[in-house]
Amino acid sequence: MQTFNVYPRYEIEPVKGKGCYVWDKENKKYLDLYGGHAVISIGHSHPKYVQAIRDQVEKLGFYSNSVRIPLQEMLAQKLGDLAGLPEYSLFLTNSGAESTENALKLASFHTKRKKVIVFEKGFHGRTSLAVEATDSTKIAAPVNITGNIIRLPLNDLEILEDTMNDLIAAIMVEGIQGVGGIHIPSQEFLTKVRQLCDRYGAVLILDEIQSGYGRSGKFFAHQHNDVKPDIISMAKGMGNGFPIGGILIAPQFEVKAGLLGTTFGGNHLACAAGNAVLDVIKEESLIENAKMVGTYFIEKLREMDVLKEVRGRGLMIGIDLKENIKPLRSKLLLKHHIFTGASSDPHTLRILPPLNITTDQVDYFIHSLKKVI
Ligand SMILES: Cc1ncc(COP(=O)(O)O)c(C=O)c1O
Repeated sequence: MQTFNVYPRYEIEPVKGKGCYVWDKENKKYLDLYGGHAVISIGHSHPKYVQAIRDQVEKLGFYSNSVRIPLQEMLAQKLGDLAGLPEYSLFLTNSGAESTENALKLASFHTKRKKVIVFEKGFHGRTSLAVEATDSTKIAAPVNITGNIIRLPLNDLEILEDTMNDLIAAIMVEGIQGVGGIHIPSQEFLTKVRQLCDRYGAVLILDEIQSGYGRSGKFFAHQHNDVKPDIISMAKGMGNGFPIGGILIAPQFEVKAGLLGTTFGGNHLACAAGNAVLDVIKEESLIENAKMVGTYFIEKLREMDVLKEVRGRGLMIGIDLKENIKPLRSKLLLKHHIFTGASSDPHTLRILPPLNITTDQVDYFIHSLKKVI
């Protein structure tokens, strides 16, 4: 049997990782400034994380949500403390798309409405309604098109106000748009979104699947602004590679047995990984590091006149070039051994390193970028 060949791939086979580096099977070392789509938060194969997963699988890897799983409560407690949102509740999933689906479903249950406002260049996943909410006609199949999604330009207050009405179940916006090329919702825009949700009884969903977990220099990117969402979706950095996602749910939502559910979500092994990630983020002050190194990174990039634009917060950085980034990305990888990311805009390079990156590693990237540009 062959694999279903949907992924364009580089001819590189990583076999080992440590911190911000991975090694291929010829033992070539690569600086990882992408973390496999923003997934690696605490660094590859962090010893504390490895130990926690090893210990847990030796004891019990899985049992379903039909039994008590105190590891879930521990995760909720740690998450509430570190994110500064102890009043929210946690529902655990296995991926970003599944978090999106559950967020939308909960908003619809709560409001008994169907329509959802999302934004241009947004990415929310590839499943059922998540893919219709995503701004890409190529990846949505006819079965995904329900007509329930309304897509508007980001940061346009007037169009949003004109469109909003009492049929809208939710407005869903990314903390920082990732796949779309690192675009940040403005403070005025988020304030308006919150006001409109309150005025019309709609639910505000912040998709922090990529921008959350400390990447922006705050636990969630929207915490740079004065706004409180009703639901926050998460995944990516949450398990440092172990598949785990979740939604944080504000207190006003009524909970009923059976309302949401999943077989694998919140299993013992996933929670062990998730708890270890939060411990390391706290113990190693990785949110502060993301802020400090991210500010340094953005400053260094902005000193380079050849770049068209540099956008971002913390360690979520978009670099716009005048030309297509494809050849440059290949040179960075093959000549300088640096992984970087693309985006849906062919001119935007996406930088999403592990949160423990150092300024020396940034300097190596800047030096390499100057050589290939
Ligand atoms: C903002 C955002 N939401 C949702 C998703 C979907 O996550 P997953 O690929 O884990 O389903 C992604 C993935 O890139 C994302 O960046």
